[in-house]
Amino acid sequence: MSSVRWVPIVLGVLIAGAALVAFAVPAAAQDNETCLTCHTAPGMVLTLPSTEVVSVTVDPQRFGASAHGQALTCATCHPKNVDVPHPKVTAKTLKEYQRIAAGVCASCHGDAVDAFAGSVHGRAQRMGFADVPTCVTCHNPHDASRVKTATFRNNLPQLCGTCHADPVIMQKYGLRPVYQTYINEFHGITTTLYKLTKPRDPTPAAICTDCHGGHDIRAASDPASRVHPANVLATCRNCHADAGRFFATAWTEHKTPGPQAAPLVWYVQLFYAFLIPTTVAFLGLLTVLDLGRWATDQIRRAGKS
Ligand code: HEC
Ligand code: HEC
Ligand code: HEC
Ligand code: HEC
Ligand code: HEC
Ligand code: HEC
Ligand code: HEC
Repeated sequence: MSSVRWVPIVLGVLIAGAALVAFAVPAAAQDNETCLTCHTAPGMVLTLPSTEVVSVTVDPQRFGASAHGQALTCATCHPKNVDVPHPKVTAKTLKEYQRIAAGVCASCHGDAVDAFAGSVHGRAQRMGFADVPTCVTCHNPHDASRVKTATFRNNLPQLCGTCHADPVIMQKYGLRPVYQTYINEFHGITTTLYKLTKPRDPTPAAICTDCHGGHDIRAASDPASRVHPANVLATCRNCHADAGRFFATAWTEHKTPGPQAAPLVWYVQLFYAFLIPTTVAFLGLLTVLDLGRWATDQIRRAGKS
C-alpha cells in the first residue's frame, strides 16, 4: 500500500480532531447551568430604548417541563448570549425585539414559518404593522406547551381575543371585534364551560382555529380561506358530518343579530323580548283582577249574613 493512500485518512482524522476541539468549548459554555446562575435571580431586567422593561428571569422548572426544555439548551436559541456581558440589544421596542428573536424558529420549524408567511397576519407583519401576532405571541419559547393539550386548545380563543376583542385595534383594519359574539354563541359557551369545569378535556366545540386555521389564517374574502362562502360548509362538515346545504346559514357567524345581519334571529329575539314581559304583565293583571273579585265576593257575603 503506497503512503499516498494514507493521506486522506490522516487528513480526515486531523479534521475530525480539530472539529472536536472546536466544538468542545461551546458545548461546555452551552450548559444551561451557566446561564441559570444569573437568570434565576429575581428582579433582573432588560430596559429597551422605548423605556419598555422586560424581566430576564427564567423559570427553570417550567422551561425543563416544556416541549423545548427536553430537547434544547438556552444557547441553541441564544448563541450570542454565550458571551458575558452580552452584546448590546439593537431592537428599539419590545415588539421589534420579539419579532427579531422569533427569527430563530425558522431553523427548526420551517413548515410553520412558511405557512405563517402566507397568512393574513404574516403579510401584515411584512408590511410593518405592529398589531399582528408573531410566533412567540402564541407560543412562549420558554414554556412552549404541546399544541394538542387541553390547556392550549381551551385557552386559544382568549389568546386570539387579546386583539380580536379590542375595538380600537380592529377598527384600524376595518374589522369587527368578533371575540364577544363567539363567546355568546353555542361553540363559545361550550368552550368556556370546558375551560372552567373540565380544564383537562379539550373542548369538542369549534374554536377559532378549527374554522380559520392556525398558521395559514386568511381574510374571510380570500377564496383560499376556510370560511370563504365556497368552503365554509366543508369546514363545518369536519365536525357536523351530515350538515345539509344550508347548514352554514343556521349559524349567525360573528354577527350580533340585527335587522341587516341575521334578521330572522333578530326578529325571533325581538318577538320574545316583547312576548315574555307582556305575558308576565298579563298574568299579573289576571291575578290582581282575580284577587279583587275574590275580595268583593267576601265583602258582599259578609254584608248579606
Ligand atoms: C453573569 C450573569 C449572566 C450570565 C452568566 C448570563 N446572562 Fe444573560 N443577561 C444577564 C443580564 C444582567 C441581562 C440583562 C440585560 C443586559 O444587561 O444585557 C441578560 C440578558 C439576557 C438576554 C436578553 C437580552 C438579549 O441579549 O437578547 C438573553 C436572551 C440572555 N441574557 C440569555 C443568556 C444565555 C442564553 C446565557 C447562557 C449562555 C446567559 N444569558 C448568561 C446576565 C447574565
Ligand atoms: C426555542 C428557543 C429558545 C430557547 C431554547 C430559549 N430561549 Fe430565551 N428567548 C427565545 C425567544 C424567541 C425570546 C424572545 C421572545 C420572548 O420574549 O418570548 C427569548 C427571550 C429570552 C430572554 C429575554 C427576556 C424575555 O423573556 O423576553 C431571556 C433572558 C432568555 N430568553 C433566556 C433564556 C434562557 C436562560 C434559556 C435556557 C434556560 C432560554 N432563554 C432558552 C427563545 C429561546
Ligand atoms: C395566532 C397564533 C399562532 C401564531 C402566530 C403561531 N402559531 Fe404555531 N400554532 C398555533 C396553533 C393554534 C397550533 C395548533 C395547530 C393548528 O391549529 O394549526 C400551532 C402549532 C404549532 C406547532 C406544532 C406543529 C404544527 O405545525 O402544527 C409548531 C411547531 C408551531 N406552531 C410553531 C410556530 C412558529 C414557528 C410560528 C411563527 C412562524 C408560529 N407557530 C406562529 C398558533 C399560532
Ligand atoms: C433548534 C431547533 C428548534 C428551534 C430553534 C425552535 N424549536 Fe420549537 N421545537 C423543537 C423541538 C425538537 C421540539 C419538540 C418536538 C417534539 O418532541 O415533537 C419543539 C417543539 C415545539 C412546539 C410544540 C409542538 C407540539 O408538538 O405541540 C412548539 C409550539 C414550538 N416548538 C414552537 C417554537 C417556536 C415558536 C420557536 C421560536 C421561538 C421554536 N419552536 C424554536 C425544536 C426547535
Ligand atoms: C364555526 C366557525 C367559526 C369560528 C369558531 C370562528 N369563526 Fe371567525 N369567521 C367565521 C366565518 C364563517 C366568517 C366570515 C363571515 C363573517 O364575517 O361573519 C368569519 C369571520 C371572521 C373575521 C373577519 C371579521 C370581519 O370583520 O370581516 C375575523 C377577524 C374572525 N372571524 C376571527 C375569529 C376569531 C378570533 C375567532 C375565535 C374567537 C373566530 N373567528 C371563531 C367562522 C368562524
Ligand atoms: C397580536 C394581535 C392579534 C392576535 C393575537 C391575533 N390576531 Fe388575527 N389579526 C390581527 C390584525 C391586526 C389583523 C388585520 C391584518 C390585516 O388586515 O392586515 C388580523 C386579521 C385576522 C383575520 C382576517 C380577517 C379578515 O377577514 O380580513 C382573521 C380571520 C384572524 N385575524 C383570526 C385570528 C385568529 C383565529 C387568531 C388566534 C389564533 C388571531 N387572529 C390572533 C391581530 C391579531
Ligand atoms: C371542531 C368541531 C366543530 C366545527 C368545525 C363546527 N362545529 Fe358546530 N358544533 C360543534 C359541537 C361539538 C357542537 C355541540 C356543542 C355546542 O353546542 O357547542 C356544535 C353545535 C353547533 C350548533 C348548535 C346546534 C347543534 O347542532 O347542536 C350549530 C348551529 C353549529 N354548531 C353550527 C356550525 C357551523 C355553521 C359550523 C361551520 C361554520 C360549525 N358549527 C363548525 C363542533 C363543531
